[in-house]
Amino acid sequence: MTSGTYTEPHEPGPEIPLAGGDVTEGVVRVGDTVRRPVGPNAPLVHALLRHLEEVGFAGAPRFLGIDAAGREVLTFVPGEVAGRPRPAWIADEERLASVGRLVRDYDDAVAGFVVPEGVRPGYGFAEPPGMPPKPPYPAELVGHMDCTPDNIVFRGGEAAALIDFDMAKPVARVEEALNVMLYWAPLGDPADADPPLREVNVPRRCRIVADAYGMSGADRSRLVEVAVLRTRRAWFSMKQIAEERGGGWARMWEEGVGDRIKRREAWLEREAKAIDAALTAP
Ligand SMILES: Nc1ncnc2c1ncn2[C@@H]1O[C@H](COP(=O)(O)OP(=O)(O)O)[C@@H](O)[C@H]1O
Ligand SMILES: [Mg+2]
Repeated sequence: MTSGTYTEPHEPGPEIPLAGGDVTEGVVRVGDTVRRPVGPNAPLVHALLRHLEEVGFAGAPRFLGIDAAGREVLTFVPGEVAGRPRPAWIADEERLASVGRLVRDYDDAVAGFVVPEGVRPGYGFAEPPGMPPKPPYPAELVGHMDCTPDNIVFRGGEAAALIDFDMAKPVARVEEALNVMLYWAPLGDPADADPPLREVNVPRRCRIVADAYGMSGADRSRLVEVAVLRTRRAWFSMKQIAEERGGGWARMWEEGVGDRIKRREAWLEREAKAIDAALTAP
């Protein structure tokens, strides 16, 4: 895969740092573009963004090439990103439904995308010892899989675009819907939630996502099972990424992300019935 060199249309303007991400240092805005360091998953992401452009999917930045400094160049997507501290509107149910619809639209747009020959999705790590098994559902598409409030651009109060495709990988649809619930329902001990989401009705919000996404009945009844398995695996993979990549990943681990994952697992066991009932009720 050749990435293509980006030709500056004119003398580039000043570099404005873009805060809000957790792990990528040096994300900047330059005019109507964003420049980001090229990550290990870039061969997949660049092909994916080109596919989305080809099929006319409007809810993602365009990949424009690699600049003279070796950074990826993307279109800047105008709008509102939650940032920190989290705004009260992340609790809004209309916005939540719009996130579910956007992610469904993305999944439908990407469904025809085939991972190019020779491209290995992910960070290229072997599974660490003790890693529990994956959910037994085959991949259906290359999911975004990082649908955090920092990675969704809103316009007019609606989710309009996904950004930051670094975590994209082949998954089953149920895993993508789960990823949305993880951050937006959210799934986890309420004490760990962002303040606007501490007292929300989580099972109800899971249902809103499921309906907006249009989850199948089979996927709804698998959701809790997949959530528990993914949570168990997340502890191992976060630890490994922190050790092997350092930087923001190591910082997150030091700040207790592992303990938070353990609390999520315990909370999921307690809430399993309520979430399952909300998802599968007629
Ligand atoms: N293409 C884009 N259009 C608009 N804003 C962007 C774009 N890319 C990044 N940003 C802004 O910069 C922040 C950090 O960029 P992101 O690509 O998410 O990096 P990280 O890997 O650190 O999460 C985002 O949360 C968003 O606010
Ligand atoms: Mg991000």
